[in-house]
Amino acid sequence: MAGDKKMIYKNYDELTIKVIPDYKRLIKLLAKQTQKENQKVLELGIGTGNLAREIINQSYEIEYVGIDSNKDYLTITKNKLRKKISLIKGDIMNIDFGNQYDTVISSLTLHHFNQKKLKTLYAKIKNVLNSTGRFVNLELIKGENIKEIQKLQNDWYNFMTRNGLDENFTKKIIKEDHEISTKNMILKNLRDVGFTDILVLYEQDNLFTFSAGVKK
Ligand SMILES: C[S@@+](CC[C@H](N)C(=O)[O-])C[C@H]1O[C@@H](n2cnc3c(N)ncnc32)[C@H](O)[C@@H]1O
Repeated sequence: MAGDKKMIYKNYDELTIKVIPDYKRLIKLLAKQTQKENQKVLELGIGTGNLAREIINQSYEIEYVGIDSNKDYLTITKNKLRKKISLIKGDIMNIDFGNQYDTVISSLTLHHFNQKKLKTLYAKIKNVLNSTGRFVNLELIKGENIKEIQKLQNDWYNFMTRNGLDENFTKKIIKEDHEISTKNMILKNLRDVGFTDILVLYEQDNLFTFSAGVKK
């Protein structure tokens, strides 16, 4: 999320529910995608650990690795979680993901990457998934045409200001946190790198959630 960085770091959780429609419900929806024993999960852009907490609280054995480039967020995550998980500070694009995973999961993190980077990243994710593994992602998207782009931005602006966020701050978030991909671009990139089993889990406003794997 963009805006005044220091202010955001300190108040991320409080702010996010005012910025993202249905944030808490969407985090629960994502978490449900990992309900299986002995899961190995990799989270890209773990932020302040809200999704990780939801997933590891589902009371089964889980091996959880979270990556984020922001050390302040990683400290918040570490203090928030009851269970010890592996936290790695680094850039998703450059870090070696290592292991095979059952789930690679991400939320509100990949929307700044251009198409070339996204495709490289999707391929990297596919390579570390085991044969039945899934890539689950909640992403901010833009509309498919100018009219749709403007409508989604207006709706987002209205949502944030209704929640009491300052108009200038809201405009700054929309400007800096602009989404690069449309839903169709994301789906094409997934197919291009070989994902064949793609389920759309949620599609509303400028939010898009999918689960992708490879058909057996
Ligand atoms: C809007 S926050 C989302 C945090 C969390 N996933 C959530 O849903 O609340 C985006 C997160 O991605 C991280 N991030 C952005 N680009 C990154 C990159 N290239 N490598 C690692 N982390 C990145 C940021 O530091 C931030 O924690």
